[in-house]
Amino acid sequence: MEMNSRFLQACRREAVDTTPVWFMRQAGRYMPEYRAIREKYSLLEICYQPELAAEVTLQPVRALGVDAAILFADILLPAIPLGVGLEFAKGEGPILQNPVRRMEDVRALNPVEAEADLGYVMDAIRILRGELNGIPLIGFCGAPFTVASYIIEGGSSREFLNTKKMMYSAPDVFHALMEHLSDVLADYLTAQIRAGAQVVQVFDSWVGALNPFDYETFVLPYSQKVLTSAKNAGVPVIHFGTNTTTLLPLMKRAGGDVLGLDWRIPLDDGWSLLGNDIAVQGNLDPITLFAPLSEIKARVHDVLRRANGRPGHIFNLGHGILQHTLVDNVKAVVDMVHEYSAVKANAL
Ligand code: CP3
Repeated sequence: MEMNSRFLQACRREAVDTTPVWFMRQAGRYMPEYRAIREKYSLLEICYQPELAAEVTLQPVRALGVDAAILFADILLPAIPLGVGLEFAKGEGPILQNPVRRMEDVRALNPVEAEADLGYVMDAIRILRGELNGIPLIGFCGAPFTVASYIIEGGSSREFLNTKKMMYSAPDVFHALMEHLSDVLADYLTAQIRAGAQVVQVFDSWVGALNPFDYETFVLPYSQKVLTSAKNAGVPVIHFGTNTTTLLPLMKRAGGDVLGLDWRIPLDDGWSLLGNDIAVQGNLDPITLFAPLSEIKARVHDVLRRANGRPGHIFNLGHGILQHTLVDNVKAVVDMVHEYSAVKANAL
């Protein structure tokens, strides 16, 4: 059953009965069931309690009928054992109390042993594998650049001023940080695979802030280390970023069986840039879900027409579901994707 799930088949570019679909941030505040749990527990409290994290992971699987589950966790959890500190302040996003700016700060970072220091994540995976009944489970981590940007900035950022300043003025410090992070993240991701994650996604959400030269020099080798160790652990790997139109060929070189595309590039154009020997995931604009159903349908069909039934398309948004999205619209997209592909298959 699992080996034949359409999501795993699409990751391997095999033929599918209908296009698989799941959503980044499919668990979260847009769901009433999630908000009910968040009334009692903070985000970190949910992550720390494997039974709760497993329950939240299952909520969208039950409500939407998606073809994959993504483990409920956060890309910033490794910041805690690293010693940088992590807090989610109400309405402010993440705050990392001890940002890394100098070589002394890099040297002060703790070594991290995922199974010991982030064991609650692996526990959630083990629980989920017993409860998912054949729906594949996606594990994930942040890519070294995106995680480094939070650790250097101390939180979210628009311009990545401190991150790029470090790259351009103190490259040895930046490289030392990326070296440490890529070791930690590779170990964390392979621990998730050993615990039972059947596919993993590496989120380089903010890498589109860079030009291709800086990507190749400062990011590619470190992403490659994480992506390659996941691949060697034997599962399909999804490599995701946004604003990546000029970076796609280099991201492909860094690794991944599946490349994530955001909505800024038409899916067929992105796929041509990458070539046919790789699968793609995407790429509906998340704000499409705020439009009337007729408009949503036209745009879902546009993405599917561009994929044109080529093996290796996983339907998703170009980035995560936004907070005020209507659950009914998300569910409608799942049905539209499944129905469209079935109609096409029947017409052949
Ligand atoms: O359903 C899922 O996708 C699984 C869970 C998941 C979360 N974060 C839970 C979460 C995943 C895959 C992530 C990844 C993540 N976290 C990324 C990469 C994906 C992306 O969107 O680009 C990033 C950049 C982060 C860092 C992060 N976590 C930020 C910037 C924030 C605050 C912004 C916000 O939306 O409030 C978080 C908090 C966070 N992580 C929430 C959730 C569901 C917010 C909800 C809450 O506070 O309960």
